[in-house]
Amino acid sequence: MASSLFRTKSIDRLLAEGEATGEGTLKRTLNSGALIALGIGAIIGAGLFVRTAAAIADRAGPGVTVAFLVAALGCALAGLCYAEFASMIPIAGSAYTYSYATMGELAAWIIGWDLILEYAVGAATVAIAWSEYLNKVLEFVGLHVPYAWSHSPFQVDAATGVAGIINLPAVLILGLLTALLVRGTQESAWVNNLIVITKVSIVIMVIVLGWGFINPANHTPYIPAASLYTTPEGITHNYGGIMGILGAAGVVFFAYIGFDAVSTAAQEAKNPKRDMPIGILGSLVVCTILYVLFAHVLSGIATVEDFRSTGREASVAFAISKYMVGYDWLAKFVTVAILAGFSSVILVMLLGQSRVFYSMSHDGLVPKFFSHIHPKYHTPYKSNWFFFIFTALFAAFVPGDIVGEMTSIGTLFAFMLVCAGVWILRVRRPDIPRGFRVPAVPLVSTLGIFVCGAMVFGLGWTNWVRLGGWLVIGLVIYFGYSKQHSKLNTAA
Ligand code: ALA
Repeated sequence: MASSLFRTKSIDRLLAEGEATGEGTLKRTLNSGALIALGIGAIIGAGLFVRTAAAIADRAGPGVTVAFLVAALGCALAGLCYAEFASMIPIAGSAYTYSYATMGELAAWIIGWDLILEYAVGAATVAIAWSEYLNKVLEFVGLHVPYAWSHSPFQVDAATGVAGIINLPAVLILGLLTALLVRGTQESAWVNNLIVITKVSIVIMVIVLGWGFINPANHTPYIPAASLYTTPEGITHNYGGIMGILGAAGVVFFAYIGFDAVSTAAQEAKNPKRDMPIGILGSLVVCTILYVLFAHVLSGIATVEDFRSTGREASVAFAISKYMVGYDWLAKFVTVAILAGFSSVILVMLLGQSRVFYSMSHDGLVPKFFSHIHPKYHTPYKSNWFFFIFTALFAAFVPGDIVGEMTSIGTLFAFMLVCAGVWILRVRRPDIPRGFRVPAVPLVSTLGIFVCGAMVFGLGWTNWVRLGGWLVIGLVIYFGYSKQHSKLNTAA
């Protein structure tokens, strides 16, 4: 029956479930400081330390700073909508949960399915970046993982002609962090806090110490004229001009992903109504300021040609080593710290993923397996191990550029649906109390859809096809399994 596709889960039922405590539920242990730390832990990572160089090389040159601002605008608009939802429906599941209550089951399924791109494929992207920096650390002590064992089969070393086979270090880090997650959120959040402090410190150090090494020639012209650039893998992108900036914004958008992961921890927040908006928007503002300054310095130190060739991998360490004479210690420190920083990102993404599937499993849309809670650690451990295998397959066999852009486009699409959802709910359920209200709805939600849509457009047709393919697979699963197994179905 067509109408069942639009059946919604009642908000009152959602809230009642969130209030429940005791056996089989998650512990409430996080305050607003812990949530901002969780956010920054999830945000600063491969997007800044790896994808920025790719955006400079392939899409926008130094204009990448403008791209960071465009991406920040999209995130701020969507972030406001996230904050309203999170303050109103403070339970696990993020955009998935919100849309179940607003746009109905099919839309919720599409978002939940789409969030796999954000969290699981995103975790794989960062694991691949971790592998690049691991090799850099090993170089400092005269070792390295051979190219074939640290790259996907779709990559070839331009210098030696050696092809990749499997990215083993990326699989290793995913396995280690999954084991940590299974032990429990509180412990992981503690480790996360330490890493966040280190990560913010290195970003500030690179900005302050690198500023004096900016070569104005590298910033001229700041926004390159529109042209086309074909990568060594044979993919052609718009470079420079408006399309170059929009494409770069889509690429570096990856760097902001994670502030919404805060909302997936809503069920573990002590005071979700107040702490959710602070956690989401606070971490977003801090990161935007750091990113624009950092990208300005990075694109000023090294050339676009560097980032198209030897400086593409572990780009920040490369730029410091090559151009900041006398700062070898910084290159080493940054490299080690980045390794730790990436770990905290992967951790939060894996956490977000298992939490979304926990909710979907509770609702019957995916099997019960995903909501089994460990009797001692109170974590959805089976789901964690399942997603280890899933993310490891991507990390082992797919290049970072492809998984990175898939993550961006999938998340942008989910953000567009969230922006629409907040507006729909204002119209349909004005009565529900909101701890935080987005100003000027529907203007803000419409702008959010427009800016995120522009980045989706900028990412180009190869990414549209991948997103479309992913959504088709999701629909097959929905109509083949989830629709019949939905708890709302059994309730009816
Ligand atoms: N924002 C996260 C990163 O850049 C996903 O690694």
